[in-house]
Amino acid sequence: NAMLSWQRTAYHFQPQKNWMNDPNGPLYHKGWYHLFYQYNPDSAIWGNITWGHAVSKDLIHWLYLPFAMVPDQWYDINGVWTGSATILPDGQIMMLYTGDTDDYVQVQNLAYPTNLSDPLLLDWVKYKGNPVLVPPPGIGVKDFRDPTTAWTGPQNGQWLLTIGSKIGKTGIALVYETSNFTSFKLLDEVLHAVPGTGMWECVDFYPVSTEKTNGLDTSYNGPGVKHVLKASLDDNKQDHYAIGTYDLTKNKWTPDNPELDCGIGLKLDYGKYYASKTFYDPKKQRRVLWGWIGETDSESADLQKGWASVQSIPRTVLYDKKTGTHLLQWPVEEIESLRAGDPIVKQVNLQPGSIELLHVDSAAELDIEASFEVDKVALQGIIEADHVGFSCSTSGGAASRGILGPFGVVVIADQTLSELTPVYFYISKGADGRAETHFCADQTRSSEAPGVAKQVYGSSVPVLDGEKHSMRLLVDHSIVESFAQGGRTVITSRIYPTKAVNGAARLFVFNNATGSSVTASVKIWSLESANIQSFPLQDL
Ligand code: FRU
Repeated sequence: NAMLSWQRTAYHFQPQKNWMNDPNGPLYHKGWYHLFYQYNPDSAIWGNITWGHAVSKDLIHWLYLPFAMVPDQWYDINGVWTGSATILPDGQIMMLYTGDTDDYVQVQNLAYPTNLSDPLLLDWVKYKGNPVLVPPPGIGVKDFRDPTTAWTGPQNGQWLLTIGSKIGKTGIALVYETSNFTSFKLLDEVLHAVPGTGMWECVDFYPVSTEKTNGLDTSYNGPGVKHVLKASLDDNKQDHYAIGTYDLTKNKWTPDNPELDCGIGLKLDYGKYYASKTFYDPKKQRRVLWGWIGETDSESADLQKGWASVQSIPRTVLYDKKTGTHLLQWPVEEIESLRAGDPIVKQVNLQPGSIELLHVDSAAELDIEASFEVDKVALQGIIEADHVGFSCSTSGGAASRGILGPFGVVVIADQTLSELTPVYFYISKGADGRAETHFCADQTRSSEAPGVAKQVYGSSVPVLDGEKHSMRLLVDHSIVESFAQGGRTVITSRIYPTKAVNGAARLFVFNNATGSSVTASVKIWSLESANIQSFPLQDL
């Protein structure tokens, strides 16, 4: 089926076929980036979870390798689940992962590469003393999973790591200490707990610099450092985070803004994005974030197309010095190597209620930078107007018009606009009486296929004095990753066009506001395929 095969991505990481979920144990070793991932070798639906393995020199061009681990021991026979790598000072790699046992108990296991001198890390061995951790008293046997990368503790040779769980409806991050990764001690205090959030999956915990623009090794601590805690909430399938301070000696993390849902209220991505994980890249001194982009159609549709899920384009993560409240996520710079030649550069004045076609060779694989200037008088009008609440998810999508919004970009649309995905800003008056900008992606008309989720995603985004409204979009057939204001707010869209495919896909800019014209400045690059293929092992 030509339509279904068109939906496969050209430069996102995805296996050749079948099901994938979480990114696992990302690391850099001897010139290669390694990505492991939750994989079902037998079907496009979750099950038989195995660790897939791929390598890349640049985080963009990947080569598939043989599986790293398969479910073949009593302690992981029901699945080799999510885990993380810790690289010791002597270069040893400790891979801790969750195993689902023959009795469906969640335990933690240790694995390591047999041969560290192999840049491809082809062979993995499971520690003979596995499991190294079982659920502690008071913790449900199905509520204990996804160990993080460890960081060095206050004592010499001591490591600390966290594992997500819940008690009742309170999501928690348990902390363990170890010196050898085979025996562990549970600390009395949790790293953080948030009532009402349910099971925390795939916890991530790492430092960010408040001064510099480089990323920090997971064990880095000291002045000018804040710590990010991220939990993937099983109940709403979204990745929540907060920035805070971490006192290593007391092992206590305190969110900067405890009022915001007990300090876990921001989301890494307001769209279809889950179970993310960062790693420190020593080659480029940056922290890199991976995330799983799942499907929003039916299982039967996934079986029909023979695959499910992709990984996001890896993103660098930095602390946003300007707001002090948000992280900045941005596609790794290597994605720019896929840009085919010079961009199309255009400036368009968009009158209220207008839409304009932008001519591109192919609208399926694009990197778009767009900034918008709104009329100052209209902005003042917003502030003087009566308070009107706005929220991306409940305020009617891109078809519903206000004084200063929506305006933005329409991707993967057909000529008649019967299928379209608008990504846009909407400025309204906030509760504090000031202008508040929202960044939204509207999936309600993305697809005419049956059984596809039709939501409007988004959130507010800080736009500081003197800043234009700016967005960056990575369009890859059926995936759109959208970044507002340098990555303060991010939305990933999973879309299933039926008409806006092949040569019929179009790109537009639009302004559906009633009260102001908007000047759009856009730069559009065509992106080449990343050409992901199997590693030619016979050539080694
Ligand atoms: C998150 C998750 C993890 C688990 C893995 C199983 O998506 O449910 O908690 O380890 O996937 O595949």
